[in-house]
Amino acid sequence: METLYDNKAFFEAYAEMPRSKDGLAAAGEWYLLEPMLSDLTGKTVLDLGCGYGWHSKYAADRGAASVLGIDRSERMIAEAEKRNPAAAVTYRVCSLQDFDYPPQCYDMVISNLVLHYVQDLDSVYRSVYDTLKPGGEFVFNIEHPVFTSGVNQEWRTADGNNLHWPVDDYFYPGERNTNFLGYTVTKYHHTLTQIVMGLIDAGFRIEAVREVVPPEEWQTIMPDEMRRPMMLIVKAKKAGR
Ligand SMILES: C[S@@+](CC[C@H](N)C(=O)[O-])C[C@H]1O[C@@H](n2cnc3c(N)ncnc32)[C@H](O)[C@@H]1O
Repeated sequence: METLYDNKAFFEAYAEMPRSKDGLAAAGEWYLLEPMLSDLTGKTVLDLGCGYGWHSKYAADRGAASVLGIDRSERMIAEAEKRNPAAAVTYRVCSLQDFDYPPQCYDMVISNLVLHYVQDLDSVYRSVYDTLKPGGEFVFNIEHPVFTSGVNQEWRTADGNNLHWPVDDYFYPGERNTNFLGYTVTKYHHTLTQIVMGLIDAGFRIEAVREVVPPEEWQTIMPDEMRRPMMLIVKAKKAGR
């Protein structure tokens, strides 16, 4: 089955986004995410939903011993191989759900802006926990539940102005057919309780939580981004070191 990111027109629209053109520096969350990726020297890293491979390449450049970037989209993996190759990095077409997570193999698992595409978060949490070595870290950035709850993920507008961001149906987790780059995209809303308690129930200790606010210098040029959170970054650790 063709995934959305394999759709040629969507893929081309995604390629026009600033973060697709300019990489991590153009990603509003990066200034908060980067400090959570502590010493990577000699580490084994898994990048879930690696897309163009920016985070995989970053890990390799920071001295990771080996990095595996997986993504279910063939086009995204082809782009990662073209844009972000590195001797320590391997890219593979594979979904998070089909990946055969080797037990106690990775020091760090990264996942940026992917988990809101996953219905069963608990199952991914369990797989990540098992594939981490004792003391290993799971750092992810997911769309914020305030952002995902409303059915359309769109502002209520009047006279061309963004009036309100609706936080409707918050306590009804599950499928949302949203609009992204002009295409209908299926995502899954998870409440804050599910995101955080799911980690605790899987055995993780939560080390840090950040609601992404744009860097200060961007705030005046994107005032709507100051009116509601869009992303949530979490760092969780497996006991043992
Ligand atoms: C918004 S992009 C983020 C890509 C990359 N992590 C980044 O931050 O640049 C979302 C990516 O998740 C991938 N994806 C979505 N659902 C997935 C799944 N179930 N398994 C693997 N990859 C998935 C998509 O193909 C796409 O490349």
